[in-house]
Amino acid sequence: MALLENSVGVEDLVLLEPLDEESLLKNLQLRYESREIYTYIGNVLVSVNPYQQLPIYGPEFIAKYQDFTFYELKPHIYALANVAYQSLKFRDQDQCILITGESGAGKTEASKLVMSYVAAVCGKGEQVNSVKEQLLQSNPVLEAFGNAKTIRNNNSSRFGKYMDIEFDFKGSPLGGVITNYLLEKSRVVKQLKGERNFHIFYQLLAGADEQLLKALKLERDRSGYAYLNQEVSRVDQMDDASNFKAVQSAMTVIGFSEEEIRWVLEVTAMVLKLGNVKLSEEFQANGISASGICDGRGVQEIGEMMGLNSEELERALCSRTMETAKEKVVTALSVIQAKYARDALAKNIYSRLFNWIVNRINESIKVGTAEKKKVMGVLDIYGFEILEDNSFEQFVINYCNEKLQQVFIELTLKEEQEEYKREGIPWKNVDFFDNSVICNLIERNQQGILAMLDEECLRPGVVSDSTFLSKLNQLFVKHSHYESKVSQYAQRHYDRTMDLNCFRICHYAGKVTYNVTGFIDKNNDLLFRDLSQAMWKAQHPLLPSLFPEGDPKQASLKRPPTAGSQFKSSVAILMKNLYSKNPNYIRCIKPNEQQQRGQFSSELVATQARYLGLLENVRVRRAGYAFRQAYGLFLQRYRLLSRSTWPHWNGGDREGVEKLFEELSMSSEEVAFGKTKIFIRSPKTLFYLEEQRRLRIQQLATLIQKIYRGWRCRTHYQLMRKSQILISSWFRGTMQKKRYGKIKASVLLLQAYVRGWKARKDYRKYFRSGAALTVTGFIYKSMVQKFLLGLKNNLPSTNVLDKKWPAAPYKCFNTANRELQQLFYRWKCKRFRDQLSPKQVETLREKLCASELFKGKKAAYPQSVPIPFHGDYVGLQGNPKLQKLTSREEGPVLVAETVRKVNRGNGKTSSRILLLTKRHVILTDSKKSQAQTVIGLDSVAGVSVTGFKDGLFCLHLSEISSVGSKGDFLLVSEHVVELLTRMYRAVLDTTQRQLPITVTEQFSVKFKNSNVAVKVLQRGDGNGKLTCKKKGSHCLEVTLS
Ligand SMILES: Nc1ncnc2c1ncn2[C@@H]1O[C@H](COP(=O)(O)OP(=O)(O)O)[C@@H](O)[C@H]1O
Ligand SMILES: [Mg+2]
Repeated sequence: MALLENSVGVEDLVLLEPLDEESLLKNLQLRYESREIYTYIGNVLVSVNPYQQLPIYGPEFIAKYQDFTFYELKPHIYALANVAYQSLKFRDQDQCILITGESGAGKTEASKLVMSYVAAVCGKGEQVNSVKEQLLQSNPVLEAFGNAKTIRNNNSSRFGKYMDIEFDFKGSPLGGVITNYLLEKSRVVKQLKGERNFHIFYQLLAGADEQLLKALKLERDRSGYAYLNQEVSRVDQMDDASNFKAVQSAMTVIGFSEEEIRWVLEVTAMVLKLGNVKLSEEFQANGISASGICDGRGVQEIGEMMGLNSEELERALCSRTMETAKEKVVTALSVIQAKYARDALAKNIYSRLFNWIVNRINESIKVGTAEKKKVMGVLDIYGFEILEDNSFEQFVINYCNEKLQQVFIELTLKEEQEEYKREGIPWKNVDFFDNSVICNLIERNQQGILAMLDEECLRPGVVSDSTFLSKLNQLFVKHSHYESKVSQYAQRHYDRTMDLNCFRICHYAGKVTYNVTGFIDKNNDLLFRDLSQAMWKAQHPLLPSLFPEGDPKQASLKRPPTAGSQFKSSVAILMKNLYSKNPNYIRCIKPNEQQQRGQFSSELVATQARYLGLLENVRVRRAGYAFRQAYGLFLQRYRLLSRSTWPHWNGGDREGVEKLFEELSMSSEEVAFGKTKIFIRSPKTLFYLEEQRRLRIQQLATLIQKIYRGWRCRTHYQLMRKSQILISSWFRGTMQKKRYGKIKASVLLLQAYVRGWKARKDYRKYFRSGAALTVTGFIYKSMVQKFLLGLKNNLPSTNVLDKKWPAAPYKCFNTANRELQQLFYRWKCKRFRDQLSPKQVETLREKLCASELFKGKKAAYPQSVPIPFHGDYVGLQGNPKLQKLTSREEGPVLVAETVRKVNRGNGKTSSRILLLTKRHVILTDSKKSQAQTVIGLDSVAGVSVTGFKDGLFCLHLSEISSVGSKGDFLLVSEHVVELLTRMYRAVLDTTQRQLPITVTEQFSVKFKNSNVAVKVLQRGDGNGKLTCKKKGSHCLEVTLS
């Protein structure tokens, strides 16, 4: 609790020590001087008017107080508003905010602060905002028409206002209803010294533009208007012109149409102009004084505005029609009477206009829906007033305040103490002043002052204010709260301040002396019928509706209820309304009479504190309990805090509550158990309980949410799972069906193929395609036949050399044809070979050998092929010399031929006969019979021949040969191919050695011990002569020409 920390004085007077009036005042003063204007007495807020703008209001503070509980922050009107709004919202209790205090103590401001707080914290949204705006904007309109500057307050409410703001179950405002109480209409025609008429007149004259003024037939200069007090025209810090703009826009926001606004201003202007209607004395023919209007133009203008003939208006103002059962009598009014009539008309028009405005606002802000509503009532009524000269208005105002004080006493002092006793809570009585005796004095049926006043008004015979006073004196002379000259005399008490025509009431807030003058009139509140009928006839769209009684059809002889009784009954309704709601008190205190900031008049505050019963309030509060509630309701609200009582409690309510506190382990001082109710001493405990409840609700909400979410997720999951299974079964089914279909189709296809294939196989022979094959086979065969038969009949000659072969008749037989050709050729060769004699075979073998050695190498070879190898070219048979030479040789002479031997020394050739045997080469001179040279074939290492057509060859001898010393032989033979072939074969036969025969154009020949390089050159075709030329000792050039 922030109560004691950094606080100026004590923030809650309950903590005051010592508890007496002096310290209470000091505390208030101390706080006031530190600009702490709010102080608590428990849950009652005491507010001292600061007469200055303090920086403790606005959105920032609203946000702060919204988040904290009552005692956590400094005392503030927002804290009280917050408590009221929260209980309305969360405890479902209708609330009322009772703002009391003297005139100028700050009630209206407080009510506006409460409203603005509630507007700021309650729901948001377009709809809600427009409702809020309308509710808030009703204030400037009502203030313009219903407030005025008085000596006590520059913006004094001259009417009572009770506003019910209605909320839905969420706490969002739906709309409201405004009830107004008795406007002080006498102010329209007359104001006290230093006071002003209602603000709207000044606002209109200052704020309306020229055009509007002209339309309303007004002059800007306010000094021209008789109804406006000429002394005071301006109020400090009040800008009439800009306020006028604000009022206009507020009316628009509330929902007044432009026309309606114009009508309202027109009617206001009429009232103002009525004050300028000058009446003068006129004398009628019969000499009786009568009245007449001297300023005809003014009346005419008013008539025009009203939509009424000016003569008719004049007649209504200056005469009166008396109706009896038989006849109508018109009497002229005296000037005084006419003036009275004029003023009565002005007052009536204005007050009815004011009622019309309130009703019009209600129409806009009324709640359309029939749903259950929660209500917060804000009461801002005119404050207790003691003027120099108090009249009927003050009497009524003070009566109303008296009643409100009674509500406070009843609920906070009396009822509370009685309750403790009733509930059996130990209690020491706190004395307080009970004002019901004063209330009774004023309102008692048939015996109260109001009843007496009514009686006087209705009584036949001469009635005046003084008869009324004497009646009061008669009745209340002994009443302790009533005083008058008469009662004073009776008690032998002489008081100069008391006039004869006055009576005095000792109100709870002080003694007030009322002057009875005008009581009867004001209570009667009569308007001559001529006037109301004239108004009813007017053409103005608004005016006639204000005077429904002017309708001749509705004219009734029954008197309308008096102002006093009307007020009394509306106060009674208000009281009933307030008692049905949970009250929240704001006690406003005025710190000084001068409306000065910072000034604290202890005396003045002491009086207020006294009559407001602050001290008693503190005492009761201190000894008492901050909160009480029936066990059942309490248990209902807090049973969730204990495991034993939540969720079910089967025992009685009281036992349940006891159990609950037992578990919460509260100190026993904090709670008391009454007979039917539980009492909690300090708000702290209650806030603690509330906080615990809030936390618990959060827990429970989380639990419910958890279970709900779990359930939702589970069901959702199950649903999804079911669906999933369904989908997958369908899917799988479809898949399998498709697969099956495919397999089936494939199987069928395969089957069809197989069957087809089988069938085709079986029936192929019957098929046309088979026929084609057969035909082609047939054709093919016949072609083959034709080919082969053709070949047979047309075979080429069997001559081996004849290579002719017929071409194949068809391309396709090419390969076969080639094969056949080869076959035939081989067969021809074989047949040829088979018929050969052994000799022929030998000849051919030799030829074969020759070909292997020389074919393609030596140019002389091709010429040798067709010529058979004779061997004997010298006629060996006929030459015994030669035969002798070979006689010792084994085997026949293989070759006998004349060759030329190239001389090794000069290259010249000499003829020789060469004989080749199986083992030797024998060279001899044809003339000599002796062998010149015998060369063993085994000593021939190799042979070199040229590749040309010549017959030159060289026998290379091995070095170990017997003739080796002489060197190699260079010979030229005519049959070089035959010679060398047979030599080769002889070497092979005898020694199994392959004689190397080299075909070359350059080779080296060994002569004795030196080597000679032989170079063969062909010049010409090679068939010509062969010449050898020695070139130096080591070179021999052989040229073929
Ligand atoms: N809380 C406040 N802050 C500043 N000025 C205030 C406050 N309360 C009242 N006043 C001043 O006191 C004047 C009278 O207050 P008001 O509420 O009209 O009194 P009441 O309605 O009780 O007659 C206001 O015009 C204003 O100047
Ligand atoms: Mg006020």
